[in-house]
Amino acid sequence: MDNINLKDIYLSFFESKGHKVIPSAPIIPENDPTVLFNTAGMQPLVPYLKGEPHPEGTRLTDVQKCFRTNDLDEVGDTTHHTFFEMLGNWSLGDYFKKESIEWSFELLTKHLNIPKERLAVTVFKGNNMVPADNETAELWKKQGIPEERIAFLGEDDNWWPNMEATGPCGSDTEIFYWRSNEEVPEKFDPENDNWVEIWNNVFMQYMHNPDGTFTPLKNTNVDTGMGVERVVSVLEGVNDNYKSSIWKNIIAKIEEVSGKNYDDERYTKYMRIVADHIRAIVIILGDDAKIMPSNKDQGYILRRLIRRTIRYAKQLEIKIDSDWEQEIADIVIEDYKKYYKELERNRDFILDSLKNEKIKFNRTLEKGLREFEKVTKNLEGKIIDKDIAFKLYDTYGFPIELTEELAKEQNLMVDMGGFKAKFEEHQAKSRAGSEQKFKGGLASTGEMETKYHTATHLLNAALKKVLGGHVHQRGSNITAERMRFDFTQDEKMTDEQKKQAEDLVNEYIKMAIPVERLEMPKEEAIKMGAECQFIERYPDIVTVYKIGNVSLEICGGPHVSNTSELGTFKIKKEEASSAGVRRIKAILC
Ligand code: ALA
Repeated sequence: MDNINLKDIYLSFFESKGHKVIPSAPIIPENDPTVLFNTAGMQPLVPYLKGEPHPEGTRLTDVQKCFRTNDLDEVGDTTHHTFFEMLGNWSLGDYFKKESIEWSFELLTKHLNIPKERLAVTVFKGNNMVPADNETAELWKKQGIPEERIAFLGEDDNWWPNMEATGPCGSDTEIFYWRSNEEVPEKFDPENDNWVEIWNNVFMQYMHNPDGTFTPLKNTNVDTGMGVERVVSVLEGVNDNYKSSIWKNIIAKIEEVSGKNYDDERYTKYMRIVADHIRAIVIILGDDAKIMPSNKDQGYILRRLIRRTIRYAKQLEIKIDSDWEQEIADIVIEDYKKYYKELERNRDFILDSLKNEKIKFNRTLEKGLREFEKVTKNLEGKIIDKDIAFKLYDTYGFPIELTEELAKEQNLMVDMGGFKAKFEEHQAKSRAGSEQKFKGGLASTGEMETKYHTATHLLNAALKKVLGGHVHQRGSNITAERMRFDFTQDEKMTDEQKKQAEDLVNEYIKMAIPVERLEMPKEEAIKMGAECQFIERYPDIVTVYKIGNVSLEICGGPHVSNTSELGTFKIKKEEASSAGVRRIKAILC
């Protein structure tokens, strides 16, 4: 059983049950600014779980590209990955518990050939809103799962995502597999680590509203999720995920370029990190969102991944100047292109971007490491102060997390608070400098600048309508005479698209929409779907500007009070700004 096979078997099984196989959504959420990456199969389907009709119907199945940043520092052990794949099937107000359970059981026992004696399940034991899910327990019994293999658990285990998160949610039933060679105990003990969760079936019937209430969703839905990496290693009987067939070619290539052996304990951890990170880098760079290494958001995560990869490649004594990273990346593309066709299409972009960032970082890495050694040798006390940390960041391109990691290895601490303050001070200075980047209020903003500022919000909204949800602001620059607006988009805009965007902005102006200024906790703004550029850099309470139903953005202002004040909007030029980013120059007249 290899990973391609698991995906094939799963998807064709659900296809045979009337499901439409849909492609993975981009790894960057298109309509959800609350997170940087998709972290579960259902995430791109939220609007449909809430009741919007899906163009492909009411039964869907897919394998979704997912990425979790919170696991980044854990990578290196046997189970954690940054990028992973999630298989899932969905009923949008179509079938419910009965079919969901029957099919899960059929797939596991008949197609993946798991003996039912090795399975156990959990079901929801109920709370003050929803009674115990006896129906699900009975359905499992009908399949032949005995009572002692069914555990009733509470909100912490059998409610998805959890009681705090807002959005669609519901009770779930989780399926466990006995992984050990020891005899399978008759009674299921969820605390025993030999029972590994392999699949989750969520019965999504509620909407958790921002005001804390739960209301029934329009439909009763099913949302399931199966982590590919874990299930393949379980089915192949390996205790180290990286020993499963998923990683075989990648690890073999790393062994080849480093001349080291994976089983040599001195190198195992480093190889896992390089393997995990290069796979994630290829998937992120290969995504049509065209993320580039940068200093913010997804680009920053990507940069961290690349820089960490290089650092650990050094530990493996790989010659950094050689084409090792190209060779490993090529293997990933080959292994994954079947499901993610964009990898093939974006091959050059992936390989070039990776190489360029490598070259850039490698130049300063050596010097930075020497500087790190020098300063830590003479360190009084165990703390790397803010000035050293900032110099490593500013002069040597060390992501602060890299400094932290290096420090940890030597039992040192970094003055993170001091670093952050210094970092922000630096940001403020560069903002006030020649760039005049618009973020937050500028004291000297005049009447025309204010108008242009509001126009950037309207243009942002219009571009999303004309080009798609992938459009996000990447920067703007305003003078009294004109505005410049940078946004994520790959292709040159056609004349028709430019005209449509221009017309749309003028339409918004004609509609004379009031511009409202709201203040709220950052979390709430994000929940409301407010557009924002620098999510983690905003204070806890933020200002949000709302322009009717057209636009909602976290922003310091200032803005006009009604769109009718803007006059006529004209696009003067549309051009490339950097890879994956286009720039529009426009005027108001
Ligand atoms: N959404 C559920 C999960 O990710 C299926 O576990």
